[in-house]
Amino acid sequence: MEQSLKGQVAVITGASGGLGAHFARVLAEAGAAVALTARRLDLVENHAGEIAGAGGTAMALRLDVADAASIGPALDEVETALGPISILVNNAGVGGEGLALDLSIEDWDRTFDVNVRGVFFAAQQAAKRMIASGVAERGDARIINIASIASHTVLPGLSAYCASKASVAMLTRGLAREWARRGVAVNAICPGYIETDINADWFKTEGGQKQMKAFPRRRLMEAGDLDAALLMLSGPAGRAITGTVITIDDGQSLPGGG
Ligand SMILES: NC(=O)c1ccc[n+]([C@@H]2O[C@H](COP(=O)([O-])OP(=O)(O)OC[C@H]3O[C@@H](n4cnc5c(N)ncnc54)[C@H](OP(=O)(O)O)[C@@H]3O)[C@@H](O)[C@H]2O)c1
Repeated sequence: MEQSLKGQVAVITGASGGLGAHFARVLAEAGAAVALTARRLDLVENHAGEIAGAGGTAMALRLDVADAASIGPALDEVETALGPISILVNNAGVGGEGLALDLSIEDWDRTFDVNVRGVFFAAQQAAKRMIASGVAERGDARIINIASIASHTVLPGLSAYCASKASVAMLTRGLAREWARRGVAVNAICPGYIETDINADWFKTEGGQKQMKAFPRRRLMEAGDLDAALLMLSGPAGRAITGTVITIDDGQSLPGGG
């Protein structure tokens, strides 16, 4: 599959670290020009510099997806610099932990502003541009939403996060249906637990270790475990895949202990 994305332009939200920075590297290695976006500009600049240093094409841009009105202008900047966008990885996300009895209105809103509202408006703004530029008609328009096993599995103490990720899964199917004839494919990946900033503190605790040891394979996943799905959904092999919500979780969401 190497270089199968040559000529494509990918935007990755939440690319200042964790999975987003990894996705940007993988898409760049496959030949795409990548735009790394997040609120922490210094970090996305570092990652973009590393990709460029390795021979890829990359740019960095500050983007807060909770500020929905700023998404369109940011995508315009990407198109001016790199050309028409063909791939959007809607990856930016926040944890939203907090017991339901204690959760504040502000915490609930923050989770939904980033995980749902941000995903919807980034998809909308990207799809408009993919259709207008002819990328969609060419069959290259791909939106990949990063959902979670929380989309379909109750994670105790994370009701707001689970509700937000269930919304991402349904948005994926709704947008895929609405845009199928327009040529924009919309799919989601539901990863299991991978150690990143979003959960690193938790997995250092006794509770976190206990949770990990209860997973069928007694381990966390690695970011690279998502590469095959990411490349399949981004590239020519994914031509007929739309409205699909793919769980890649090392069996973590399978029921039963032992
Ligand atoms: N790690 C896992 O186990 C796991 C499992 C399933 C799903 N996921 C999902 O995977 C995605 C990436 O998570 P991660 O594990 O890589 O976590 P992470 O290391 O905490 O990264 C989260 C990213 O989202 C960005 N972000 C947060 N708020 C943002 C905002 N308002 N606007 C733009 N970017 C924002 C952060 O960048 P800035 O702070 O610089 O803005 C950061 O780059 C999330 O959607 C998460 O829910 C993760």
